[in-house]
Amino acid sequence: MEARVPLDFLGELRRTHTCGELRAADAGARVLLMGWVHKRRDLGGVIFIDLRDREGITQVVFRADVEPAVHEKAELLRPEYVVAVEGLLERRSPDTVNPNIATGEVEVKAERLWILNDARTPPFPMEDRVDVSEEVRLKYRFVDLRRPRMQRNMILRSRIALAIREQLYQMGFLEIETPFMTRSTPEGARDFLVPCRLQPGTFYALPQSPQLFKQLLMVSGYDKYFQIVRCFRDEDLRADRQPEFTQLDLEMSFPQQERIFEVIEPVVQRACEVAGMRVEIPFPRMTYAQAMRSYGSDKPDLRLPPFQIVNDLFEGTSLAADGLPLVAIRTPNTGPLSRKERGEVADFGRSLGLKVYDDIKSLAKSHPAAVEEVRRRTGAGEEDLLMLATWDGAAPVRRPEDTVLLACGQLRMHAGIKYNERHKLLEPTVMKLLWVTDFPMFEWSDEEQRWVAAHHPFTSVHDEDIDKLMTDPASCRAKSYDLVLNGVELGSGSIRIHRRDVQSKVFEALGFSQEEALRRFGFLLTALEYGAPPHGGIALGLDRLVMILAGESSIREVIPFPKTSKGTDLMCDAPSPVPERQLRELGLQLRRD
Ligand code: AMO
Repeated sequence: MEARVPLDFLGELRRTHTCGELRAADAGARVLLMGWVHKRRDLGGVIFIDLRDREGITQVVFRADVEPAVHEKAELLRPEYVVAVEGLLERRSPDTVNPNIATGEVEVKAERLWILNDARTPPFPMEDRVDVSEEVRLKYRFVDLRRPRMQRNMILRSRIALAIREQLYQMGFLEIETPFMTRSTPEGARDFLVPCRLQPGTFYALPQSPQLFKQLLMVSGYDKYFQIVRCFRDEDLRADRQPEFTQLDLEMSFPQQERIFEVIEPVVQRACEVAGMRVEIPFPRMTYAQAMRSYGSDKPDLRLPPFQIVNDLFEGTSLAADGLPLVAIRTPNTGPLSRKERGEVADFGRSLGLKVYDDIKSLAKSHPAAVEEVRRRTGAGEEDLLMLATWDGAAPVRRPEDTVLLACGQLRMHAGIKYNERHKLLEPTVMKLLWVTDFPMFEWSDEEQRWVAAHHPFTSVHDEDIDKLMTDPASCRAKSYDLVLNGVELGSGSIRIHRRDVQSKVFEALGFSQEEALRRFGFLLTALEYGAPPHGGIALGLDRLVMILAGESSIREVIPFPKTSKGTDLMCDAPSPVPERQLRELGLQLRRD
């Protein structure tokens, strides 16, 4: 396509400054700036452009009476043209100072202008205020990434990654790379497979995490490893999930759980500092059992108060009849809710299988003392919503208590989020971090009809529970922990199994035959026989951390080139079919059924 205007060469031109750094004290300097035409205002004899680069915006003035030829050339400029401008930096007159931008006290009197490239009219203006559909944003991501919000997010991400690296290097960690073309690492998702041309019919799997390699690095004596690394998981996507995402992955030798916490806490603290947020360390700790009993969640959002199990207050009444938890949930500062609003909350609870007593006033009539005590225990005041909830109907089959508590946890969050508008309790600038520890070792999978590892199969069982692996898997606790931030699982880790005999036992408890365990993880089992030290580690979701620190509600806003919720890249149109020839080379044929 022909350029719309005659274009100049960059030649040997060199910037003297960025568009964000010139101040009143620089007035009088001869400057050469380069960037994009953000805005152009043509007042006849005078043209103003806002020249933009990553660092900011500087105003440039073209005057017909001073430099007529340059002014004439400036008439050609349109938004997003790429230019170089040379001229004298001048202070603006007091009435034209722009207090909204850092360079607002100065402007460049243009003496020379080079148009380095033209631009089609962008699909949307380079402003945050303009609402653009995500589809258009992702199709033109290279333009979207120019917008201030995205630039802020990308810069924040880069700074957070740097702060993390600095902190870990300081603490003696080595950054070591692990392969992307490997074999399956079970983290609970499906693998992305890469066919191998040289051995038709065989496939590499992209790693769901570097789990096994980091354990092997401990066997090799590297002691403290970390990596900021891409992971790949073929799973259903959500706002906080992408098929490829980035982990801060870490492993240490000879640690107790507390040693891992001691490493991660300052790392997260520094990352928060980069975003201008202060968090106190150490973070609170809570066992999985406590989290379930107080929040009905293994990732409690501590910005809302805990709930209370109050069966003891209603003993002998129909409310606490079947022994399943009767839970008092307080949502602070909702103000008086209408009957309709309360009904909506109760309906939500019902959809989860709960029976909800949302009209606490009428309950107080029949059970005055008990309700009074509920108010006292929960700290409920006049402005708060107080509800009681319990299971409605037949008890759930597995972990019935947890099922009820989980539903109450969802109800608690629903009420909190729904009426948040009014009281701003869930402010994203409030950072509530905590460790959740002692997860169950196994979860029952209805789909597979067997116990599966709650974290992953390389996680240690509690020393006291080792003998119950085969006899009572449901009660075995793992040496595993999650880091939770504002109700989001930020990271997950565990102390690993470093003994071959224990690892084999856990594989057996998970229902792997010996052959299968050897086929899939033989290399790990062998490595455990060659002097594996006790080791453990963790991985944090970097995208999630940056998302929260950037105040965003989707990780797509902090990933430069994310996939849609259907896993597609709208810009380069991936995934895409490949030519027949390429399939043949790989020894593949597509099934059409
Ligand atoms: P886990 O599977 O819990 O643990 O993952 C660790 C953290 O990675 C983030 N995460 C994701 N972020 C975005 N999109 C996804 N699809 C996605 N999946 C996970 C989450 C999560 O907490 N190998 C173990 C860690 C270990 O044991 O050391 C692991 O990968 O924030």
